[in-house]
Amino acid sequence: MIELSIGTPNGVIDQNIYGQFIEHILTCINGGIYDPCSPLADETGIRADVLEKMKELAPPVLRFPGGTIMCQYHWEDAIGPMEKRIRRKNLIWGSELDPSFGTAEFVTFCRRIGAEPMICVNMASGTAEEAGNWVEYCNGTRNTYYANLRRSHGYEEPFQVKYWCIGNESYAEPDIGIHHDVSLYIRDAMEFIKFMKLTDKTIQTVIVGCDREDWNRPVLDALHPVTDYFSYHHYSGEGNMGLYGPFAGERNLKETLARLTALLQTYPEQVTDFSPWYRFPPRSGKIRIALDEWNIWNFVPDETYGLLQTYNWRDALWTASILNLLLSTPEIGMANLAQSVNVIAPIVAETDGSWFQTIAFPLRLYRTAMTGTRLSVSFRSQNPVIDGKAAGQVEALNVSAVQNPDGTVRLAVVNRDFDHDYEIAVTEDARNQNQSGDPDTAAKQTASPDCSFNPNLFQGKTGELTVLTGSAPDAVCSRNHSCVSETHALIDGNTIRIPAGSISLITWR
Ligand code: AHR
Repeated sequence: MIELSIGTPNGVIDQNIYGQFIEHILTCINGGIYDPCSPLADETGIRADVLEKMKELAPPVLRFPGGTIMCQYHWEDAIGPMEKRIRRKNLIWGSELDPSFGTAEFVTFCRRIGAEPMICVNMASGTAEEAGNWVEYCNGTRNTYYANLRRSHGYEEPFQVKYWCIGNESYAEPDIGIHHDVSLYIRDAMEFIKFMKLTDKTIQTVIVGCDREDWNRPVLDALHPVTDYFSYHHYSGEGNMGLYGPFAGERNLKETLARLTALLQTYPEQVTDFSPWYRFPPRSGKIRIALDEWNIWNFVPDETYGLLQTYNWRDALWTASILNLLLSTPEIGMANLAQSVNVIAPIVAETDGSWFQTIAFPLRLYRTAMTGTRLSVSFRSQNPVIDGKAAGQVEALNVSAVQNPDGTVRLAVVNRDFDHDYEIAVTEDARNQNQSGDPDTAAKQTASPDCSFNPNLFQGKTGELTVLTGSAPDAVCSRNHSCVSETHALIDGNTIRIPAGSISLITWR
């Protein structure tokens, strides 16, 4: 029996942790989301079946157009009448950069699925003025050239694009651009932000971060007053480590997020002495982490780079574990699963139909259930450890808990042990004040009374158990066969059996 206690509330979860990403890369957008020649497309060229699946996953924010393609993306190529749009060679991912799904189509798609658009500007071959003009085209309300250009394209109302990424992975030397030189990134990012914020001072900016102190520190020293988010990208892979390989990546991500959190805490919550001569306000509130690309990506050095990834049931457990980490880390203000359709994606769109890969199932479950207030969870007895061989030791159970706005309490438990079921006993712990929300930290902290805590989180409430299981760790879905099953049961008492290799959601209403 493993004893778990659900502890204190620790802030409201930002729903933007359930964001997603689409890029002009292989068939993610053209041939995936947008395919006017497909019999499955609606009158706007959007694949109706893919649209419905995106609505099911319901990302609150969607990032576009890259990714690395940002390096060559000139937004004015892809606006206005189709016959005037400019088609270029896709220098990054091969084939062509099709301009038929441009800014307006992207924003319209976002609105149809209920997502806020998030745009990444071209810092490599674009200019700061071009980025400012993009903001004006999207958000301008005055009688100005770019606002009128949008109107002339049939969009009277501004798009109100709030989130803007200032470059993408600029530290990567092989990518087009010179911003791997950190001093140049700082110089140019400041100029981009000036043009963009002077155009619309309400936008929120995301600057580029990574796992290198010699990048992060100078970038934040210079730009912290003018950025709302600090980007970090994470891809786990099997990496010849076998079944538990991706969980080694998950451990690295957790450690990196802890380092980034500590770094961000060295910057003031409020910016003071910001010169009024900038003519736009500084950020207000803390800088938060935007994990604006994350997934499993088993890189292959061929022409598709392994991007047409097939995900198995083990990968779904990894996905749920990352969602638990995002839910438990208050400093994360946004996260975007990379990507959405066909390319390292939860949705596969074939010419005659589309289907969900395994990783879509936890995404859909969590998106609906795991919202509201973050609750700390701590292990009161040993969390069993699996010998992941080359991947090192992996904790069997991975957890997070929330209280929905209607008072419903939810506990998500991922059992990464494919050989053993575990019984858990869940109690309420009014004394466990876990400021970080991290279950590991919680277990180590000294208990102290918290009188504001509601001691009746689930006592006397009816419990329900939802369990997602795959037919085997390496099981994969296809269009005609889903390898994932979902079962429901009522819970009697607070002792619950968590099946091997499962994702379980316990709900107390
Ligand atoms: O998501 C695929 C690629 O991964 C993106 O274009 C890039 O930002 C990252 O390296």
